[in-house]
Amino acid sequence: MKPKIYITRKLPEEIVNYLQEHCDVKMWEKEDVPVPRNILEREIKDVDGLYCLLTENIDKSLLDQAKHLKIVSNMAVGYNNIDIKYASERGIKVTNTPEVLTETTADLTFALLMTTARRLVEVSEVVRNGEWKTWSPMAYTGQDIYGATLGIVGMGRIGEALAKRAKGFDMNILYYNRSRKIETENKLGVKYVDFESLLSESDFICIMTPYTHETRNLFGSREFSLMKPTAILINTARGGIVNEEALYQALIAKEIWAAGLDVFENEPVDTNHPLLKLSNVVSLPHVGSASIKTRIEMGILAATNLVEGVSGRVPPNQVN
Ligand code: DGY
Repeated sequence: MKPKIYITRKLPEEIVNYLQEHCDVKMWEKEDVPVPRNILEREIKDVDGLYCLLTENIDKSLLDQAKHLKIVSNMAVGYNNIDIKYASERGIKVTNTPEVLTETTADLTFALLMTTARRLVEVSEVVRNGEWKTWSPMAYTGQDIYGATLGIVGMGRIGEALAKRAKGFDMNILYYNRSRKIETENKLGVKYVDFESLLSESDFICIMTPYTHETRNLFGSREFSLMKPTAILINTARGGIVNEEALYQALIAKEIWAAGLDVFENEPVDTNHPLLKLSNVVSLPHVGSASIKTRIEMGILAATNLVEGVSGRVPPNQVN
């Protein structure tokens, strides 16, 4: 008998076909709507494996419903949506999808940095709305990227990939990380500084760290008050790392210059969210890894992890 699995979102056919070769598959058939919690609670009861997205909260009460579960395969590199500690206590493997999304996410992060610095969304609207009257010396001016100082918070794979892009713009690159990365410093010419120095010296601060108890609200009013009034904050990691109310206050008080946000504390973000009302905020719908190639690779990697896990083997990307 094939192991039973549940997939929490409609996946591309090639991934489902691969999973069907190895497993008895049930899938939530909608692409744009997450599986309702009550259905997930019912479906998880008798499966050996769960294939899920970052939109599902895999907490203790859900895991308590699952009596046979061997593996939770998350189609994301971040796994803050899963109660890892409890899954580990229960002997349930948890896997993620690292590496395949590194370059794509770094591309988007740098694109968001440039878009925010040069006000591209705002000024594009000026053209569309017929508000472009003339060329004038200081109209629509932004911040320079070339030669500026970039502060990277969290020097993991994506942080490194971002640093490589920044080198092409002759940026002075600072980083802060839990541990120093001497090899990365030698390879990329990046400089380790303490968190406060990074805040006060950087023109751009990119958040590239995982979301954990330690990084929750890492950026609050104290941190914004240390930043330059011309500084730009870019977050493509997780919304909860930034205290959104404090960010809003810092932006309207002009303590910092702008923010580019691909992620929010609650997603999808409410259209009435105060941050969305500010012209110096560029907001995106969590699309860091959203290239066709990368999303397919993430899907396949999550499927491989799942098949290995339900077959009793060690999956390639086990995180617990
Ligand atoms: C992740 O993988 O954690 C991203 O946020 C989505 O690709």
